[in-house]
Amino acid sequence: MTVINIEDLSFRYRQAKEYAIKDINLKVRRGEFLGVLGASGSGKSTLCLTLNGIIPNSIRGEFKGNVYVKGQNTRDVSPAKLSPIVGLVLQNPDSQLFNMTVEEEIAFGLENLGFEVDEIRKRINWALKITGLQGLENEFPPNLSGGQKQRLAIASVLAMKPEIIVLDEPTAQLDPRGREQVLSLITLLNKEQGITIVLVEHNTDYMLSFADRVIVMDRGEIIREGKPREVFEEAELLRSLGIRLPASIKIGAELKRRGILKKAALTEKEIIEALKNRI
Ligand SMILES: Nc1ncnc2c1ncn2[C@@H]1O[C@H](COP(=O)(O)OP(=O)(O)OP(=O)(O)O)[C@@H](O)[C@H]1O
Ligand SMILES: [Mg+2]
Repeated sequence: MTVINIEDLSFRYRQAKEYAIKDINLKVRRGEFLGVLGASGSGKSTLCLTLNGIIPNSIRGEFKGNVYVKGQNTRDVSPAKLSPIVGLVLQNPDSQLFNMTVEEEIAFGLENLGFEVDEIRKRINWALKITGLQGLENEFPPNLSGGQKQRLAIASVLAMKPEIIVLDEPTAQLDPRGREQVLSLITLLNKEQGITIVLVEHNTDYMLSFADRVIVMDRGEIIREGKPREVFEEAELLRSLGIRLPASIKIGAELKRRGILKKAALTEKEIIEALKNRI
């Protein structure tokens, strides 16, 4: 089942000369994990903002084509109405956190939607548990670590129980430990909670291991789309766009070149398995 359907979408910001995204056609299936790659300025964030209707409803400009989220045209529904369906997590968690405690932060969106107190309580506990923030309920969000703040931003979105979560470079400002925490959480949301994920992320090793499909954007267009291993075969193209090849692909190719492995095993896990079998 298709949950997001983008048809002939182009968008130009008001003050801009060029279109930030051009002629995008894309379908996202329920439960899918879609990775988005592309150089800086290629239109990744703009695409994310069209998925929950912020573009064109809050950020205006020249908008052509249509985005359907579960059959609803984003032109016709407010971003607030879409928030229980599509949650958006931004690069900088600080811009998304503004309450006095972790718990209030998670409750905020639910209170605005008018949920009953019991239901809010249940959802807060559920979101705290999944994101591993139990015990931090009464903390002041600015005092959390980077990884905790980003997990809190995800928890606030998660509490709305959206079917789809869009994350725009959620690990960009985190240290390695925070990155690891956030990426494992995203994997869990997709693989265990069945949430559809659209993720902009530069860690291609992670994409290779966990994304079902990736798209590559260049100057506003989708120039490649396919299974991560197919897309990552185009080493030259990716290099020219400044997209790092997964380390495991480079290592696999080198092991094959040296005759250590018969085929260029691709994910880290596959390389480990292949090497184990040699012993
Ligand atoms: N608010 C805005 N007003 C005018 N132009 C904008 C605005 N936001 C982005 N742009 C332009 O739209 C194009 C696409 O930007 P976008 O932020 O979507 O790219 P991106 O792939 O997310 O880049 P990055 O990797 O740096 O986050 C760029 O040329 C950018 O300068
Ligand atoms: Mg961006």
